[in-house]
Amino acid sequence: MANGTRQKDLRERAERVIPGGMYGHESTRLLPPEFPQFFRRALGARIWDADEQPYIDYMCAYGPNLLGYRQSEIEAAADAQRLLGDTMTGPSEIMVNLAEAFVGMVRHADWAMFCKNGSDATSTAMVLARAHTGRKTILCAKGAYHGASPWNTPHTAGILASDRVHVAYYTYNDAQSLSDAFKAHDGDIAAVFATPFRHEVFEDQALAQLEFARTARKCCDETGALLVVDDVRAGFRVARDCSWTHLGIEPDLSCWGKCFANGYPISALLGSNKARDAARDIFVTGSFWFSAVPMAAAIETLRIIRETPYLETLIASGAALRAGLEAQSQRHGLELKQTGPAQMPQIFFADDPDFRIGYAWAAACLKGGVYVHPYHNMFLSAAHTVDDVTETLEATDRAFSAVLRDFASLQPHPILMQLAGA
Ligand SMILES: Cc1ncc(COP(=O)(O)O)c(C=O)c1O
Repeated sequence: MANGTRQKDLRERAERVIPGGMYGHESTRLLPPEFPQFFRRALGARIWDADEQPYIDYMCAYGPNLLGYRQSEIEAAADAQRLLGDTMTGPSEIMVNLAEAFVGMVRHADWAMFCKNGSDATSTAMVLARAHTGRKTILCAKGAYHGASPWNTPHTAGILASDRVHVAYYTYNDAQSLSDAFKAHDGDIAAVFATPFRHEVFEDQALAQLEFARTARKCCDETGALLVVDDVRAGFRVARDCSWTHLGIEPDLSCWGKCFANGYPISALLGSNKARDAARDIFVTGSFWFSAVPMAAAIETLRIIRETPYLETLIASGAALRAGLEAQSQRHGLELKQTGPAQMPQIFFADDPDFRIGYAWAAACLKGGVYVHPYHNMFLSAAHTVDDVTETLEATDRAFSAVLRDFASLQPHPILMQLAGA
């Protein structure tokens, strides 16, 4: 049972000493009340909550778990480096090895810089683009998430209009709207940010259309603006290269985070030679940006990415899950909307405007030992086996039945309702 004794105790203690009991994207405030807030351990594709309840985890720590929690080769590489030193007065030689590995794998990249979180990488890209062009305006797709810094956080408490006065918005996958934004800010555009596909919360996902990606590249080439692909969430889950490579579009900068060290804290900004001088001239840094242990984990993760069929495993497991869910939903007469790459699934119910069906289904899955998310895209890892998917589908089938049984009494989540009314 989620919310067992330890969970309840931790929640109460957290309420006293952590603002709101928890903050940020891992707060369970917007999740069904059954969802545990605290976890004790993780291994492979599974997580155990504070009361030792196990779940097959389809969130993968919101992305960082790519190859399985505590993957042995990566842990060994991290342990070996830990014996030598982690955060030191200067970086280890492995920083150079890691930069070489990344540059060797990502076609558009001639150099790499390392930081801690995805937000560091996107904010560095923003500063770098302004330094490179001497211009102010940054173009982002409406609703796209690029981090929690004042210029891009989706929440406005404590944020000034002046923090984002030079950020303008276009509509994702709408080439015309992008061209219009270039005209509206003629001569002042420093960069266009694009996620590799649309992966916003509470929205169906949408793959990038070729015309849109080509227009982004063309407008940047014609005006000297930099094209930035924000691969923080999708990086290495759709390709072993930048995620727009399959469209034949190479950005000038790409932002990476979450999974390339399989959960160790490190992010990266990669760039082409065009942006090298500006990358040298800006001042960006952090006390932990040069720590060697995450870099050792990253080098090993990148090796596994290059040398193993991890990506094909992810895709196959995601496809099996998607097909199984589709068959079950049809059998139960509940239409699903499954969007985006199958290995990063977004799963909603049709005719569920206030998400009450999806929330009830996610809560029932959780009860059955499967952690799915009712409003955020999910993630598969290479540790999700065929057996895990089979076990998952047994739980999801029971969850469909539970939703149908309780259908008449389902209620929307109270906080969602408050937000909708606001
Ligand atoms: C596309 C994208 N960019 C940037 C970020 C920010 O990354 P972080 O949370 O590591 O700062 C995220 C996080 O979810 C993201 O999905």
